[in-house]
Amino acid sequence: MDYRSLGKKGPEVSAMGLGCMGMSGMYGPSDRDESIATIHAALEAGITLFDTGDFYGMGHNEMLLGEALKGRRDNALISVKFGALRGPDGSWSGYDARPEAIKNFVAYSLQRLGVDHIDIYRPARLDSQVPIEETVGAIADLVKAGYVRHIGLSEVGADTIRRAAAVHPISDLQIEYSLISRGIEAEILPTCRELGIGITAYGVLSRGLLSGHWQLDKLAQGDFRAISPRFQQGNVEQNLTLVEALRKVADARGASVAQVAIAWVMAQGEDIVPLIGARKRERLSESLKAFELELGADDLAAIEQAVPADAVAGERYPAAQLKDLDSERTTA
Ligand SMILES: NC(=O)c1ccc[n+]([C@@H]2O[C@H](COP(=O)([O-])OP(=O)(O)OC[C@H]3O[C@@H](n4cnc5c(N)ncnc54)[C@H](OP(=O)(O)O)[C@@H]3O)[C@@H](O)[C@H]2O)c1
Repeated sequence: MDYRSLGKKGPEVSAMGLGCMGMSGMYGPSDRDESIATIHAALEAGITLFDTGDFYGMGHNEMLLGEALKGRRDNALISVKFGALRGPDGSWSGYDARPEAIKNFVAYSLQRLGVDHIDIYRPARLDSQVPIEETVGAIADLVKAGYVRHIGLSEVGADTIRRAAAVHPISDLQIEYSLISRGIEAEILPTCRELGIGITAYGVLSRGLLSGHWQLDKLAQGDFRAISPRFQQGNVEQNLTLVEALRKVADARGASVAQVAIAWVMAQGEDIVPLIGARKRERLSESLKAFELELGADDLAAIEQAVPADAVAGERYPAAQLKDLDSERTTA
């Protein structure tokens, strides 16, 4: 495993992180024992960065991760997102990043995780009612009190990143980045680079679409992909033709589609750490082999020719969720 500093002021992390969201229902049912075995396999492979959110399964994901890390806490850095509000039926009802809410959220997260501090704590989305300075200031108080080590951001745009970084050092921005989600390249990535903020990239496999394993009939109820535009009939067929074009490049390198998609993201800069959403050991071990794939300029060109930046059909979120993404607003 390779290790690198997450941004100029962040912790040293493994060059690949494990995203645990899919282990708590966001992609349909998952197997608890296999999820825990996958977290253990990640630790054994040298992965140190584990991402969760207090709203993934309404606390389920934190409890699962806490259980899996019992006795191994010192080998792990835990990244927690907060602020997304949910109902008992799993519905989503906005965001809350007020200082008093943050104090409450962190108290519950520490209990569920069974830890005395969180390594990176971040608002899942910008709360449009609360200036980012107040949110970051409240997390900075938690840093001072020892409950949090580093402050991260998620899905925010350049202006918000600058305002946040003026209050307290930001270790990383968590944001979607893949061959078919390249929106950060214009403004957000350069801003992070200027300010010495790392990127923890999610959706590197576009939630399985770009994995080479996706089957058209696979959607279960409650699966995010059932409402994701890129998986809808009329779009998914076109998107899978991109995957088949990528498969030809992968075959020529003796690699899998997922490995090429991950290696492409890793090749975009040492400041970008992919968070892989594996929830089975088999998928994790496939992803880890991306480290063995050195992509040269010819490979990168062939990959980008197979999957041109603007060839994807459908937005990365449904309209109702897209409007909550500060990262989709431009500062110009
Ligand atoms: N900040 C944010 O707004 C935000 C949003 C979303 C996610 N995240 C974080 O980022 C993490 C990763 O995101 P993601 O879920 O979108 O990840 P992803 O890696 O793009 O997709 C994961 C999906 O791809 C499937 N898959 C197929 N082949 C795979 C392989 N070789 N390795 C890994 N997965 C493979 C998985 O498998 P199976 O279906 O076979 O299990 C799973 O359903 C999440 O767990 C979460 O922690 C953050």
